[in-house]
Amino acid sequence: MAYETRETKKLSPVASALLAWYDANARDLPWRIGPAERKAGRTPDPYRVWLSEIMLQQTTVATVLPRYEAFLERWPDVAAMAAAPQADVLGQWAGLGYYARARNLHRCARAVVEDHGGDFPDTEEGLRALPGVGDYTAAAVAAIAFDRRAVVVDGNIERVVARLFAIGAPLPSAKAEIKRRAGEIWPRRRSGDFAQGLMDLGAGICRPKAPMCLLCPISSACEAYAKGAGEDYPKKAPRKPKPSRRGAVYAMVNAKGEMLFERRPEKGLLGGMLGLPGTPWTDENAGAPPAESAPGGRLRPADWGRAGAVEHVFTHFRLTLDVFVARAPKGFRRRAGQEWIAPRDAKLPTVMKKAVNAALSFPLSD
Ligand code: ADE
Repeated sequence: MAYETRETKKLSPVASALLAWYDANARDLPWRIGPAERKAGRTPDPYRVWLSEIMLQQTTVATVLPRYEAFLERWPDVAAMAAAPQADVLGQWAGLGYYARARNLHRCARAVVEDHGGDFPDTEEGLRALPGVGDYTAAAVAAIAFDRRAVVVDGNIERVVARLFAIGAPLPSAKAEIKRRAGEIWPRRRSGDFAQGLMDLGAGICRPKAPMCLLCPISSACEAYAKGAGEDYPKKAPRKPKPSRRGAVYAMVNAKGEMLFERRPEKGLLGGMLGLPGTPWTDENAGAPPAESAPGGRLRPADWGRAGAVEHVFTHFRLTLDVFVARAPKGFRRRAGQEWIAPRDAKLPTVMKKAVNAALSFPLSD
C-alpha cells in the first residue's frame, strides 16, 4: 500500500507513529544526529555513520561504544584512516571478531579517498560498490547519512517487521519477504530517522524475549500483538549443530617474558592478525604432543608443558585449542615473520588472547 506520494506527502500510520515515538525516545548515540538536531538542519558525518554501521554488524551497541570512540580518536576522518598502515587498523580492531571486516574497512577508506576524492558516494548503488559494503550497509548509510529512501533491515528491524506482519515463514528464508513488507511502510521523508527508530524500538521495546507491547507505539497495527503472540515471531528454522575442530598453539617465552607471535596469512580465518604459532585447525583431534611445526624444532615434545585447552566459538565451528608452553632454549632463533612481543602489548583476536592467558597461568620451571 503506497501511502506516501510526492503529492500527498502523507505518511503511513505506522511510519507516523514510529517517527513520533523516535522524536521523543531516540537513543543518544555518538554517531547519531538526533531527531531535533536533524530537524534544525544538522546532517550526520557519513564517515561516522559508515564506521558505526560496520562496527555494529554482529556486535552489540554496548560493546561498540568504547571501541568506536577509540577509532574516531585515532582516525577522525576517512583520509586519516586511509593513510594508516593496514596492521594498525587490524590492531585497533582486535577483539571485535570478523577480521575480514577490518581489512575491508581499511580498503574502503582507501577507495573513498582514491576513487571518490574523500567523499562517500551518496546513493545506495554508489555505496554498494565500495569494499566491504553489502546490501545492509549500503542501505543503512544511504538512509542514515544521506536521508535516501533505502529499506534498511538489520536483526532488530527484522524482528519488528516479522511481528508487525506476523510473517509465518521462518528465518533465514523469510528475509526477502521481510524486506518487501518493510518497503510497504517505509516513508520517503525521514528515512534515516525511520530506520533508527525501528532499530531503537527493536532494541528497547520489541525485544527478542518479553517484548513490552504495552509501551509500543505501533502495537495497534501489529498482527502478532493482535494474536497475543509477539514473542513467537520471527519463526526460526532449527539450527544445525556446529562442527568441532581442534588444533594446538605453542607459546614460547624468552628471558624477558616476551612471547613469540606471528602474523597469520592475509587470506583465511583471523587473516592478517597476530597469533601464536601452531598447527592447522582440523576436524580431527589434533590435541596431543607438539608437532614438528612447533617453533624451535630442536625442542623435544617433553620440553613443552601443556597449559590446558581453550574453547572458542566461530561462526561456522567450535574450536578447541590445546596450549603448550616452553621457555626459549639457549640460542633459539625466531623464524622470519615471527616477533617477540610482551603479551600485554600484543593486539590479539579473542581466541589468541584466551590461549595467551592460559599459557601465562602455566608455571614454567626455571
Ligand atoms: N545498529 C545498527 N546500526 C545502528 C544505529 N545506527 N543505531 C542504533 N543501533 C544500530
